[in-house]
Amino acid sequence: MCGITGYIGYKNADKVLFDCLKRLEYRGYDSCGIALVQSDGIKVIKDTCRVKELEAKHKKVNSKIGIGHTRWATCGEPTAANAHPHSSCGDKVAVVHNGTLDQFIPLKEDLINKGHVFKSETDTEIIPHLIEENMKTMSADDAVKKALGTIQGAFAVAAIVQNENKLYVGKVGCPLVIGVGDSECYVASDSSALSKYTNRFIYLKDHDTAVLTPDSIKLFRNGKETEPEIELLDKNLNDAELHGYPHFMLKEIHEEPRVITTTIDDLDDLATLLATIDKDLGGIRMIKTLACGSSYYASLMMRYLAPQILGIPTFAELGSEYCSLTKGQKGTLAIAISQSGETADTIKAAKAAKANGYKLMAITNVKNSQLARAADYVWTTKAGPEVSVAATKTVLSQIAALYSLILAHPSLSKLNKEDAMDTFRKLPDQINKIFENVDSIISVASYLADFKDAIYIARGLNYPIALEGALKLKEISYIHGEGYAAGELKHGPFALLGKEVPVIAIVSHDENYDSLVTNLREVKTRQAPLIAISEENDLTISNLADYVITVPHTKPILSPILNLVVVQLLAYYTAVKKGNPVDFPRNLAKTVTVE
Ligand code: F6R
Repeated sequence: MCGITGYIGYKNADKVLFDCLKRLEYRGYDSCGIALVQSDGIKVIKDTCRVKELEAKHKKVNSKIGIGHTRWATCGEPTAANAHPHSSCGDKVAVVHNGTLDQFIPLKEDLINKGHVFKSETDTEIIPHLIEENMKTMSADDAVKKALGTIQGAFAVAAIVQNENKLYVGKVGCPLVIGVGDSECYVASDSSALSKYTNRFIYLKDHDTAVLTPDSIKLFRNGKETEPEIELLDKNLNDAELHGYPHFMLKEIHEEPRVITTTIDDLDDLATLLATIDKDLGGIRMIKTLACGSSYYASLMMRYLAPQILGIPTFAELGSEYCSLTKGQKGTLAIAISQSGETADTIKAAKAAKANGYKLMAITNVKNSQLARAADYVWTTKAGPEVSVAATKTVLSQIAALYSLILAHPSLSKLNKEDAMDTFRKLPDQINKIFENVDSIISVASYLADFKDAIYIARGLNYPIALEGALKLKEISYIHGEGYAAGELKHGPFALLGKEVPVIAIVSHDENYDSLVTNLREVKTRQAPLIAISEENDLTISNLADYVITVPHTKPILSPILNLVVVQLLAYYTAVKKGNPVDFPRNLAKTVTVE
């Protein structure tokens, strides 16, 4: 959580910093600030507002070096004093920090005893004071390096020092990337925030520190100066612009047909990776998935698919609840799924599984993420950067990757594979059809927007989509939504049904159809408004439901992908109707780096 950025070069730093902060706001947005090196000292401006509001208040400053921060409060409430940057006495050093520091109280007390005066409740504020204290006996370069070696916990830090034309950075356990320009350097928590400025990046590793000037990058790895490795990123895969869409969420949903196509294009590479895993494990005999939030709902798909199609027992675990009590046996594979690859609970569970003897595969949208680095095998979903806090195209990319794992498995017969591929290839056009018929979703969203509660139901493979639909509804439309396996309704939730609680049913045209129709009749008997997401021309459903949103016909096994798109659009248009801040829902941050 929290986004950090920095700039050193020939451009006006304030303009660059505000621009980058706007792209990092998905990481937290309860307060923000920038600090700029000027001839007469360091100027800090910060407040509890959104970046564009701070930018409007700021009077332009001629400075070519600065740092910026957008916050999701962890240590200290969201107040102006707790907002970053934090500075030392007399604003000689300013620092921005993403992460949480352990055992900072003794360090703070020691600094107070030495005469340092603190202005905030944050852990971060010890860093500029430590640097300033160190500078009494050493150069600024050494003082920063020493301070970053003293603090403990998780951090990505950028610092500036008065009278030093340098930008200092370092990290342990939180992401940080340097963007390389011509006679300029950028820093950010992720590369997509810098996509407008450069496609050349240096991904810092844990315990790296670096000293940047407009023309040089001195990288220290484990204390030794090391030649930095520059990676070139495909601009299209790093694109984080709105391109005319009113919200990133809508833009990202509209990228979903492309995500399916990319997944299909990569199928041979995935088959090669799977063959390696299969060989290393002597055949996959059991799968355990580890994930949180929407990624957990995506992982639930594997619990249905792998046993049904491949006969491999599969267990889906929440990262935050994983009890690493069982030892991995021969042939057991843990698959950790995380779009950001930085979710603390998922990483902790993945590391625990590995320590217990599981081979670890990571499915993530961020190639150089912590999760990717911890894993034995990595599959990168190429969904491209996702800015909206509510995950959409990345969830679809995870589900598509899990389907691909099934398709790529050597035990699937050639005939079954070809048949499934034909259906898979039709999905992008079918998703576009859903976009063409969006009016029916918009009108249901307008109706839904007046309710306080809603219940999603489904059976079998579509049950994870019901859970995800309810989560999306809560997250951005602030309607209390619950997802239930339809058969479970009568085991308690029935008590809630009535005119004020609509039920949204995802109808699967498979072996569960008849039981689901029985459940829908039960719902109608309790007078709950019924909205059905169903295939076209289903008279039984259109006679039963008050509203029907139709989806194109596909094989039942792939229907969750089309239904996922519908539940995402339904949540989106409901939130729009309510006038909510769709991309930045209250109290949330996209990357959850705390347990
Ligand atoms: C919901 C959402 C979250 C994330 C969860 C895990 O829209 O985005 O529930 O899915 O925080 O994040 P990752 O996938 O980055 O591990």
